[in-house]
Amino acid sequence: SWTAANILDEQVEKIRAQVGDGRAICGLSGGVDSAVAAALVQRAIGDKLTCVFVNHGLLREGEAEQVETDFVAATGAKLYVADERERFLTALDGVTDPETKRKIIGREFIRAFEAAETAILAEAADSGQPVKFLVQGTLYPDVVESGGGEGAANIKSHHNVGGLPEDLDFELVEPLRALFKDEVRAVGAQLGLPAEIVMRQPFPGPGLGIRIIGAVNEERLELLRKADAIARAELTAAGLDEEVWQMPVVLLADVRSVGVQGDGRTYGHPIVLRPVSSEDAMTADWSRLPYDLLARISNRITNEVDGVNRVVLDVTSKPPGTIEWE
Ligand code: XMP
Repeated sequence: SWTAANILDEQVEKIRAQVGDGRAICGLSGGVDSAVAAALVQRAIGDKLTCVFVNHGLLREGEAEQVETDFVAATGAKLYVADERERFLTALDGVTDPETKRKIIGREFIRAFEAAETAILAEAADSGQPVKFLVQGTLYPDVVESGGGEGAANIKSHHNVGGLPEDLDFELVEPLRALFKDEVRAVGAQLGLPAEIVMRQPFPGPGLGIRIIGAVNEERLELLRKADAIARAELTAAGLDEEVWQMPVVLLADVRSVGVQGDGRTYGHPIVLRPVSSEDAMTADWSRLPYDLLARISNRITNEVDGVNRVVLDVTSKPPGTIEWE
């Protein structure tokens, strides 16, 4: 019968059979899939797994800590952290075109991961136990999607942080290949992963880099992180996390409007709320959030986030809009 505990046991056996006493690495993105895949493999082979987290600086508030602290505490996994925030900021400097941003982030991610990997491989080779396995959090829908025709695949160049260069000489370990998202969440909970990781809503690999409309810099990231944290906290407090598929919070960095606050005129940026309801992200409708929740989010963001003087709501379905703005 299907229970998370059964799947866990079965996968642990399978991983042990595949990997033996070999060594493996696994990229962590902050998302559910890579975290559960890594935790499963860690359960199966312990210290023979090294997890790699490339901090690109484009995550939301608290997310790097969820990986660096909470994931490690919950699993006991060995983690290699590459702090690459500077690399990404430099590479993105002045870039405004959405596709160019995506390509740069994808390219730099691969370079950063390869650098981390080189360091780990060198150390492993010195110890006489080379790394032969690469763990990936591929789910059943990913398998189906890449086998079938991908009609919409070229609308935006999707990039999975944690998804990796193809020229690597590894054998893949993909313990989630037969599972759907809700099953992955159940297995993650069974493994003791915190709810913040297991219940996380979808978040794009390029992160906040494609939620700043305009060039990316540290000041803008900081501002967007604050606004996003407020919006997420209020959505959670209202008990609507499950009803809403995801709620991108977007900074219109190149737009300013006049406002009035305290004793004076302001000239600040708008923040866009993009709550959507969806089954699979292929189509979506804008979520009819309660007005009082929207009011609370708006009041808090304009009061608490310097430089923002307006909050607007995106009421476009997909199609014609996409879920993300870039
Ligand atoms: P769009 O904007 O195309 O988004 O309607 C559909 C879903 O995909 C997520 N998304 C991404 N996920 N890497 C990802 O892993 C990406 O590059 C990426 N771009 C968009 C988006 O958040 C939504 O859930």
